[in-house]
Amino acid sequence: MDRIRIRGGNKLNGTIPISGAKNAALPLMIASLLTDEMLRLKNMPQLADVLLLQRILRNHGTDTSVFGKRAGENNENGETVGLMAADIVDTVAPYNLVSKMRASFWVLGPLLARCGEAKVSLPGGCAIGTRPVDLFLMSMEILGAEIDVDAGYVVAKAKNGLHGGRIVFPKVSVGATHCAMMAATLAKGETVIENAAREPEVGDLASCLVKMGAQIEGIGTSSLHIQGKDRLHGAEHTVLADRIETGTYALAVAMTGGDVTLTGTSTQLLDAFIAKLIEAGVNVEAVDNGIQVSRNGTNLMPLSIETQPYPGFPTDLQAQIMALMTMANGTSTIRETIFENRFMHVQELARLGADISLQGDTALVHGVKKLHGAEVMATDLRASVSLVIAGLVARGETILHRVYHLDRGFESLEAKLSACGADIERISD
Ligand code: UD1
Repeated sequence: MDRIRIRGGNKLNGTIPISGAKNAALPLMIASLLTDEMLRLKNMPQLADVLLLQRILRNHGTDTSVFGKRAGENNENGETVGLMAADIVDTVAPYNLVSKMRASFWVLGPLLARCGEAKVSLPGGCAIGTRPVDLFLMSMEILGAEIDVDAGYVVAKAKNGLHGGRIVFPKVSVGATHCAMMAATLAKGETVIENAAREPEVGDLASCLVKMGAQIEGIGTSSLHIQGKDRLHGAEHTVLADRIETGTYALAVAMTGGDVTLTGTSTQLLDAFIAKLIEAGVNVEAVDNGIQVSRNGTNLMPLSIETQPYPGFPTDLQAQIMALMTMANGTSTIRETIFENRFMHVQELARLGADISLQGDTALVHGVKKLHGAEVMATDLRASVSLVIAGLVARGETILHRVYHLDRGFESLEAKLSACGADIERISD
């Protein structure tokens, strides 16, 4: 199993290109199930999750091609992916595939809308909490589906197709919003989704659906109005920049010091996060086609942070900012309100010398003067990269195990960091 070795202490200087967002790419790929024509997605990140979802979609009958070549004829590492679900050959999403990636559960909406039936295994994904699916089931029932949960599968049927309805989510859910929005584009009549997630990736999916012929109003707000259509058609769409990757590299520079320009991204995706970075004493500036981040020896100020749905501070940057705060000049409080079990990085950061205590949903991070290298284990996607950030300043050598978590969401991480001066390498057995 691959490991990553980091020798800490180097400042980061240079340029890091930001990839397309994993969390936009996945629902965009799933949207291909809504039409029998080709959906071409550009700026696709090269990630394990993207490859796995291609496999899952192929199982339903989607033809996938990369740079115009059919998958299998060439390496699947192009940045343009074509997806064509001319015929849906199977409406079952089996356990062995869905259990590896929670987002694949979202095929429920498009399959139901297009085929009138779907049988989808209850999901897996990062172990960061119980992550129920009640909001998905509620919204599909409002759109006219009959739902049974049987032997670990959600069995959904809508013999006469889905119809519009008024969905009021009691809680903000990115995935349930994606799923309901996709289903509603092919439902008969109008669907209103209230308390919809406003994450930029939801807006990106909505824009792509509009290119495919969907009628959606309220994009970017918590109230979406969708007029169902008889059919959608093919389209071409460029995947939004990855705001979590952007924030992660900004934090890496904040941690090591130095001066790095992150290209192909925008400060506008990360207002709440950037405000906190500036409060901590980091210089952040919008530049042409990107963001410049620098820090020059000044003390890091402690922060008080609470994760919230967009436009609040993203839970997907909580672990990484905690890594930064381990070196702040004082005590920070970090409250996690989205997922109840998203502190597994705490004990691993402690192995590197961090001083963190947990009180329920809040971590108290007491800044220390230095971290030291150690062997640590990645527990989930975002937690694993927080250990990389800490390793970049830890004295001596840090070895990160279970790197496959990282490969799910960060494209060419070692290459991007080492190009800016980090001493980081992958060790494959
Ligand atoms: C997505 C992101 C993930 C991010 C999360 C929150 C992708 C591929 N993943 O995950 O990186 O951390 O948004 O920004 O885009 N919930 C329910 N019932 C449901 C569905 C969700 O109670 O039916 C709860 C969850 O347990 C969680 C909260 O709602 O406490 C938010 O989860 P949700 O927004 O659905 O996260 P994901 O879409 O899984």
